[in-house]
Amino acid sequence: TTVLVLSGPNLATLGSREPEIYGSTTLAELQGQVIAEGERLGLDVECRQTDDEAELVRWVHEAAAAGWDVVLNPAAFTHYSYAVGDACAHLVGMGSRLVEVHLSNPAARESFRHTSVVGRSASGTIAGFGVGSYLLALRALANPQV
Ligand code: DQA
Repeated sequence: TTVLVLSGPNLATLGSREPEIYGSTTLAELQGQVIAEGERLGLDVECRQTDDEAELVRWVHEAAAAGWDVVLNPAAFTHYSYAVGDACAHLVGMGSRLVEVHLSNPAARESFRHTSVVGRSASGTIAGFGVGSYLLALRALANPQV
């Protein structure tokens, strides 16, 4: 199984970005842990990050066409990007699995973070466990029953 692990806007600043909320792990460290967990689980994992909505939509289309599963932290796009949400609906409609992840727990934060326009298309959502949210998403995808 190939899994594309996508991170959206502002996640390249992990490590220095509001560490009390997002932790002190950098994106490079996060991606290293994700790659190691993927190897442990026998998954073929590729990590990418972008601040650009159009690029994120293109990557979701790429996964849909290739039949790859996706772990997606849409970051702020979670809350308002119907374009990313619609691309995710297409991805799942094409038979890929999608796990939405968040480092923090948006349900415990400001009210604008309580809405996800991506979640309605996801196979499932994991939030609030820091880097662990990504690792748990890989474990979910490693299970063929998910
Ligand atoms: C986030 C939560 C979002 O509300 C926020 O805009 C982010 C990161 C998270 O991983 O906790 O950028 O997706």
